[in-house]
Amino acid sequence: DKKIIITIDGWSSCGKSTLAKQLARELGYVYIDSGAMYRSITLYFLRNHVDWTNPEAVHEALGHIKLQFHANHKNGQSEIFLNDENVEYVIRDLVVAEKVSEVAAIREVREYAVKQQQEMGRKKGIVMDGRDIGTVVFPDAELKIFMTADNAIRVQRRFKELYEKNPNVTIEEVRANLEMRDYIDSHREVSPLRQAEDALVLDNSHLTIRQQLDIALGWVKERL
Ligand code: C5P
Repeated sequence: DKKIIITIDGWSSCGKSTLAKQLARELGYVYIDSGAMYRSITLYFLRNHVDWTNPEAVHEALGHIKLQFHANHKNGQSEIFLNDENVEYVIRDLVVAEKVSEVAAIREVREYAVKQQQEMGRKKGIVMDGRDIGTVVFPDAELKIFMTADNAIRVQRRFKELYEKNPNVTIEEVRANLEMRDYIDSHREVSPLRQAEDALVLDNSHLTIRQQLDIALGWVKERL
């Protein structure tokens, strides 16, 4: 029974985690949301007033952070725990999203996260989504997907998701945040967001969730 590594990278809010979760469920693989790790580290830094422009403060703080993924007993979905606290929902807040790209650009933060991500993929049978998974974390992955979607569609999707939790959120705020994150993520010095040379592009602007899953499953089959 051959198991592979599937990486899904791309711009913010183009449906990477939706596809990753579906693929993991279909294939019986582990799903890891690498963005949740950067968001959790950012949450810790914000709560503890860590001055992340100071490398020593970052080093010290990372020493106090433990990240774990556990399956939710009700729906089987993987959720992230920061020092034993379930933070899966709080890390989606715009307060965290405003700072996460800054924190994720710090070299030591990335080294900390990437090391754990690589460890989680040691036995394969994993789907991981993020920005540098196919380029840096698993450069030898059997299937690399690079997702894109029209800007307006991405903003709408993320707005809808955030609005359900907080009706005070505005579409302008959401658009500004997506643009800012995409800019920082693709321009940073350490492992910027870019398409791996051997990645397959999936533009889901006009695809249903079922259609995008079928396309990806077709690619998986060719590699098993
Ligand atoms: O995937 P998500 O939008 O939750 O990621 C939040 C942020 O975490 C991204 O905007 C990016 O700054 C950072 N990130 C990263 N590398 C990854 C995953 C996420 O830099 N592999």
